[in-house]
Amino acid sequence: MKVHKIAVLAGDGIGKEVMPEGIRAVDAAAKRFNIGIEWTSFEWPSCDYYLKHGKMMPDDWKEQLDGYDALFFGAVGWPDTVPDHVSLWGSLLKFRRQFDQYINLRPVRLLPGVPCPLANKKPGDIDMMIVRENTEGEYSSVGGRMFEGTDREFVLQEAIFTRTGVDRVLKFAFELAQKRPKKHLTSATKSNGISISMPYWDERVDAMGVGYPEVRHDKYHIDILAARFVLSPERFDVVVASNLFGDILSDLGPACAGTIGIAPSANLNPERSFPSLFEPVHGSAPDIYGQNIANPIAMIWCGAMMLDFLGYTEAHDAMVAAVESCLVDGPRTPDMGGTASTTEVGVAIAATI
Ligand code: NAD
Ligand code: IPM
Ligand code: MN
Repeated sequence: MKVHKIAVLAGDGIGKEVMPEGIRAVDAAAKRFNIGIEWTSFEWPSCDYYLKHGKMMPDDWKEQLDGYDALFFGAVGWPDTVPDHVSLWGSLLKFRRQFDQYINLRPVRLLPGVPCPLANKKPGDIDMMIVRENTEGEYSSVGGRMFEGTDREFVLQEAIFTRTGVDRVLKFAFELAQKRPKKHLTSATKSNGISISMPYWDERVDAMGVGYPEVRHDKYHIDILAARFVLSPERFDVVVASNLFGDILSDLGPACAGTIGIAPSANLNPERSFPSLFEPVHGSAPDIYGQNIANPIAMIWCGAMMLDFLGYTEAHDAMVAAVESCLVDGPRTPDMGGTASTTEVGVAIAATI
């Protein structure tokens, strides 16, 4: 049996509470499907590590993580002690870039039994895949601040859209849409206001679309796209977006589907030259940390996506099916209207798997 080496990076806040449930669920699936998993936990990246060492990770973090088959990541950030741009640019955003995880794949589904804040929506009405560009775009460190403290002070931050970077995420999105029954791709743009990069993005979407004649593709400006997520989410199948637009849509989508506490994401290096990273969409949630009430489903679903990426589609499907059946009649955390703890939900799902 091949043994997959997984690096466990729980991070901060509820990352540390949901991680054990993610591991419990993957272990249950590994047992059932005879998959070899070897977990190795790291105390970094985390804000606690930063307070001790003045940095989020040791200098040789890349060498230390490079040999792993995947990175299982909780959440990072504790803004009371470390500024968010320091903790995130010192950890997650470094991983995405250095490991060239240029796809951030974020499924959004209304699952059975989850109270939906939108009127008259049922499971099936919200079922989309957000494909977020994950290494460039608006998340650039090109820029600076000048004349600090004077009335000439200014800050500048560039957005970067490379042909390679744009085309590779669009290709992934078109390929994904081609495999889905609806074969529909929506692109998020803002070419009316952002007059250089977004017309370029639109142009590349049209060029890529020529190679996928079966995929129907359309585009919406991000402002009305956000409104349509709320008003008519059933019209979306695969949604491709730049780094920032994808970030916003991938919190909005899960909120429309009941709670951000169930939303998973896969930061993929599809070529497998580097490890891919699997993490919930949500953050460290300082407001609920320490109460054992965080929803572990996002972390568990990330575990399913990780097994899928490692080649175990059946195990993925069994894990998602277990989540779905537990949502119908099992314990639920408070964000879904229940009173159960993180551990109770995790144990119930693992038992079902
Ligand atoms: P957040 O996602 O941590 O929390 C937003 C809201 O959602 C909070 O009210 C929280 O209680 C709730 N929530 C989040 N996850 C939940 C879960 N599993 N179950 C139940 N409720 C849940 O976003 P934030 O408050 O903007 O950020 C807090 C910290 O996390 C910041 O430092 C931020 O930078 C960081 N962050 C990290 C990541 C990451 O590591 N991937 C992602 C987002 C935010
Ligand atoms: C996410 C998060 C990160 C992002 C933050 C924490 C830098 O919000 O993974 O969605 O903006 O990408
Ligand atoms: Mn986000």
